[in-house]
Amino acid sequence: MFGKRKGRGPLKVLIATRSREVLEVLTRFSARWEVLEAFTTDGVYRLLKGCQLVVIEPSDLLERELSWEGLSGVLEQAGIPRVSAREFVSNPELWETRALAASGSLEHLPCRCVALTSYSGGVGKTTLTLDTARYLAKTAHVPVLAVEFGHGASAFHTLAGPDLPSVYDCVNGGSAPGKWRGVDLLPMVWELARVMPLEAFSAWLAQAKKDHVLTLIDVQYPHPLLPAAEPLVDEWLVLTTARPDAVFNAAELTENLRPSRVVLNQKGLGDGLALRGFERDVEIPFHRHAEKLDGKLGQKLISTIYPTARFERGGLR
Ligand SMILES: Nc1ncnc2c1ncn2[C@@H]1O[C@H](COP(=O)(O)OP(=O)(O)O)[C@@H](O)[C@H]1O
Ligand SMILES: [Mg+2]
Repeated sequence: MFGKRKGRGPLKVLIATRSREVLEVLTRFSARWEVLEAFTTDGVYRLLKGCQLVVIEPSDLLERELSWEGLSGVLEQAGIPRVSAREFVSNPELWETRALAASGSLEHLPCRCVALTSYSGGVGKTTLTLDTARYLAKTAHVPVLAVEFGHGASAFHTLAGPDLPSVYDCVNGGSAPGKWRGVDLLPMVWELARVMPLEAFSAWLAQAKKDHVLTLIDVQYPHPLLPAAEPLVDEWLVLTTARPDAVFNAAELTENLRPSRVVLNQKGLGDGLALRGFERDVEIPFHRHAEKLDGKLGQKLISTIYPTARFERGGLR
């Protein structure tokens, strides 16, 4: 049935189905397939690295932190073919061919929601949110969401495109978030957002977090709608530049938010003296072309958010 695979190890297949027929087919050709099994969405995601095929039945799978939608996004963006039990059993040769073409290159990153915040404006919350989201979506090929909490007009609209559906369109109007450079983006237009019921926004965000591997929140603290997101935040990154008022604000805000870390942004050569005695966890250098959102600043922040992920030549391995 299956052709001999000269000089290579077995194909790695992940099964997430109770179908006996699938196991029977795989057992008959056990020399050619290495079989892994999972029973939850998170289990599938955890074991995906190196897999070249996923045989999956949504009804056999329990949803955990990552929703079915989120897992589908991961499989699609990682380019790992997926097939139902029935389809696999009816034509295993076809799926072996497809599995051979799949690289299975994927880094497992835990699902997280990280808020970039500050009392001060102009410290780089929006820039770092977009740059980090873009960098991760481009290098790790996982679903990433960036949510803006703003007042007045939307900075996401200005930087990423005025036609993207806003928070209001998604929560009240049923639109899906728009895409910008591989990232799901949620701009906030305050005049519309302010009439949204907080509970509806809360429920929408809780589901959105499950549909994405990383959810980034860009918020100047405090914000009237932030209670909708606060319970979902796994970590606060408190941003500052070397400006004395911003440094003072960052030190104070960090005390109020847990767990939190301080990010010093736009660090320049001459800033050392002014910052003496100020404790920060991460430094992001000044970048002459920060507004280009080329992923350079995001790369630095992603290695803070996912310290154990291995990076290589600007990309995730
Ligand atoms: N690391 C950096 N190096 C140089 N300029 C930066 C950096 N981060 C942000 N900027 C610039 O600082 C300005 C304010 O950034 P912004 O993201 O709008 O701040 P915030 O959202 O906190 O108000 C923008 O012009 C942006 O391009
Ligand atoms: Mg901003």
